[in-house]
Amino acid sequence: MDHAVHELISARWSPYSFSRRLIPRADLLSIFEAARWAPSSFNEQPWRYVVATRDRAEDFDKVLSCLLEGNQAWARQVPVLALGCISTKFSRNGRSNRVAQHDLGLASASLTFEATSRKVFVHQMAGILPHKARKVFAIPDGFEAVTGLALGYRSDLGTAAPELQVRDQSPRTRRPVNKFVFGTEWSEPGL
Ligand SMILES: Cc1cc2nc3c(=O)[nH]c(=O)nc-3n(C[C@H](O)[C@H](O)[C@H](O)COP(=O)(O)O)c2cc1C
Repeated sequence: MDHAVHELISARWSPYSFSRRLIPRADLLSIFEAARWAPSSFNEQPWRYVVATRDRAEDFDKVLSCLLEGNQAWARQVPVLALGCISTKFSRNGRSNRVAQHDLGLASASLTFEATSRKVFVHQMAGILPHKARKVFAIPDGFEAVTGLALGYRSDLGTAAPELQVRDQSPRTRRPVNKFVFGTEWSEPGL
């Protein structure tokens, strides 16, 4: 870290090795309550989540089947899988909501930090099969699956494939603040 941040920010990351320990329902409800209170354009709240817990194997396998194989390989062991979906149009006027994905991202960020506060890790995935999800979960017109989310407690036992365990242990890298916060000249540091 170059600058001080809240520990919920510094503690969050996206592991591949998860414990199989189930997340209590009360914690899951709080995690999705955090998503509920995310800001959104016109308070449209365009996010929807399809959620399955591993103790309900049939439902869990349905969500798992909507992930790309590479993600299925590590995500099959997590206790909770979800699909992040959007409503693509504003309910107030039927116009296309060009920030629906943005607002799903905000809701997922909110739930991620609530999860972090409960020692639950969230690993999001773009690698899903949206068309399959539409069929499997009868997602209606006007809604789309955008992301997958794996939620669970961290395991040090190395439950993922060896190459993914290496990624779990590799240093995380980021572009520095002065490379993405610009002043009035594009690409010139703004702070
Ligand atoms: C929208 C989104 C899509 C992602 N898609 C995948 C994915 O399909 N598979 C995967 O293993 N990780 C995926 N990730 C995790 C990123 O690779 C990870 O967040 C990034 O490398 C930064 O690492 P960190 O979250 O540990 O800080 C995704 C993350 C986000 C936010």
